[in-house]
Amino acid sequence: MNVLLIGAGGREHAIAWKIAQSPELHKLLIVPGNPGTGRHGRNIPFPLNDFDALVDLADRELIDLVIVGPEDPLSAGIADRFIAAGMPVFGPTAAAAQIESSKAFAKQIMAAAGVPTALSHVFNTPADAAEFVRRDNRAWVVKADGLAQGKGVVVATTAEETLAAIQALGATDAGARLLLEERLEGREVSLLALCDGERMLPLPPARDHKRLGENDTGPNTGGMGVIAPVDDVSPALYQQIVATCLQPVIRELTALGTPFRGVLYAGVMLTAAGPKVLEYNARFGDPEAQVLLPLLEGDLLAALYACATGTLQPDQLRRRKGYAVCVVLAAAGYPKRPRRGDPIRGVEALDEEGVMVFHAGTAMGPNGLCTAGGRVLGITGFGPTLRAARERAYRAADHIFFDGKQLRRDIGKD
Ligand code: AMP
Ligand code: GLY
Repeated sequence: MNVLLIGAGGREHAIAWKIAQSPELHKLLIVPGNPGTGRHGRNIPFPLNDFDALVDLADRELIDLVIVGPEDPLSAGIADRFIAAGMPVFGPTAAAAQIESSKAFAKQIMAAAGVPTALSHVFNTPADAAEFVRRDNRAWVVKADGLAQGKGVVVATTAEETLAAIQALGATDAGARLLLEERLEGREVSLLALCDGERMLPLPPARDHKRLGENDTGPNTGGMGVIAPVDDVSPALYQQIVATCLQPVIRELTALGTPFRGVLYAGVMLTAAGPKVLEYNARFGDPEAQVLLPLLEGDLLAALYACATGTLQPDQLRRRKGYAVCVVLAAAGYPKRPRRGDPIRGVEALDEEGVMVFHAGTAMGPNGLCTAGGRVLGITGFGPTLRAARERAYRAADHIFFDGKQLRRDIGKD
């Protein structure tokens, strides 16, 4: 099979690494890719927003399957364009991707499908939201409706903070429409499932660590580390989340005539009243992919192709026994203003069993590998226990050096 993979992060390196193990892979092109994906295929530096040029490229290269990593091209309709050109795509159409690109749409789907979630109100202007809070005089979680690169949510603790958040988010492109949501308490878990429009194959439960600092302090990031599976999700709870948070959405989107083909990702809060959905993503998480893909046995490429063509068999991939822990190494200045160009040492020397080094914000400079983005590398350790996986990840993380390296020491600690 000839495959075109879209994206440039650690998630895409993990996808490239896993599908490179498939006996069915003939040629892998990655647009634009990174030095890590370049080890498994050919990187092509191409702008991601020129869909015509991408379809031409795929045509010329006799591509059999397009795999889309990030959310921005999905919500801009990249899958629609390839489908129109007759090419199977792993990744939802723009209409189905609204489950991520519009939080108001997601709430509408959840209401129609009976998915448990926080009570919320949608406002078409920030002024309307502010007026509501002035009368209500309580704290709310404020959410921008649109895609905001993880910066679209403020969990306010007072009415004043709520008003300030409305003003701040309301001034952004994503925040033309706003949601006010009741605050939920509990531990969070992420459940991702491969979907072919009708059937789904749920992956092990994962737990992201979104804050920059240890013990969940400091600013929000794209994710500083992740573990899977999560032991406080029992098999019964897992089944409950699949049945109440994932399956009804797949059915509802199909009923609306916009079947979902790709990864449906539910961010769930485990509240005292049961699991409730915080948000959906329409793609693999990053760094969730860096732990979930190493935990799968079987041919990922065949499974993604089956999703794209509506022929998924729910037992096509199996769960590998054991745990995976991914520790993110971030650049100096992340998340505000990541510094680029710091030389990275130690990656090539690293060849340890049960350790995978996934590239994200790296580049090949004249003097070798250097930092080129906020999250630079994701180090995944695999082991029979969470503790063994953690120790492997951290031992490897400590063998990689660059100036200003930031990492959390508490990924998977409790
Ligand atoms: P989201 O992008 O909607 O997942 O929100 C980002 C983060 O904000 C989540 O991972 C939660 O930690 C927090 N959050 C979102 N919604 C709520 C809520 N209703 N109650 C409490 N925390 C929330
Ligand atoms: N790590 C969170 C996300 O990919 O949305």
